[in-house]
Amino acid sequence: MASLKAPSTRQVSAVKAVIFVLGLIPVAKMAYLTFSGQLVEPLEHITRGTGDWTLYFLCITLAVTPLRRLSGINWIVKLRREVGLFSFFYAFLHFMTFLWFDHFFDVAEMWKDVVKRPFITVGFIAFVLLIPLAATSTNAMIRKLGGKRWQWLHRLIYIIAPLGILHFWWMKAAKHNFQQPIIFGTIVAVLLAMRVYWKMTKAPKAVTVPAAPVADRVN
Ligand code: HEM
Repeated sequence: MASLKAPSTRQVSAVKAVIFVLGLIPVAKMAYLTFSGQLVEPLEHITRGTGDWTLYFLCITLAVTPLRRLSGINWIVKLRREVGLFSFFYAFLHFMTFLWFDHFFDVAEMWKDVVKRPFITVGFIAFVLLIPLAATSTNAMIRKLGGKRWQWLHRLIYIIAPLGILHFWWMKAAKHNFQQPIIFGTIVAVLLAMRVYWKMTKAPKAVTVPAAPVADRVN
């Protein structure tokens, strides 16, 4: 498909600013509902809300490359880092909610819980794996690691997303409620399967942008 005219740096910055504001709306809404006393179960609402948004942003991050390849709109890759960082942001809030409200910052107690409940073990592993991705998201870290190593490291996302789904699935399994895990599991499976297909068929990439930082580069 033909590429649309690439937007200017200023236009891309404007889109990033819009994403930034949109990305903060869920946490602002959770804070407002909690502090205005409108929630019967604020802890449950925040734990679930932050978990949901971690998963949504993970799915959007994974969708960027397939969208780019199918649409030919290459510049959307420049938005991927911001969306990925939002996933980490919500995962961090999700984890802090658990550590704070469930365990009152008692790390030893939290650890017992992580080890004892398999769905939490899996969520915890996914979160720990997200940390190096967030920590190496800056241009300085990309330069330090080198493009190839950075790209290898960031393939951890292909493990993190299925772990997130397994965590969700396991949690819902206790209530025999599989509808949402099936929907998100299918989304993640399709997004990963497309990559496998392109890799196997060696489908040509739409474009390469050698001058761009690796985080914004087409892959
Ligand atoms: C990438 C990492 C993670 C993802 C994608 C994720 C995602 C989710 C999702 C989607 C839910 C269900 C929300 C709903 O009911 O709508 C959830 C619930 C939950 N998660 Fe996570 N999570 C992650 C990491 C963690 C970590 C690190 C912990 C704690 C160590 C954790 C603990 C929990 C707990 C306690 C619940 C709520 C269970 C309940 O209400 O019964 N998660 N998570």
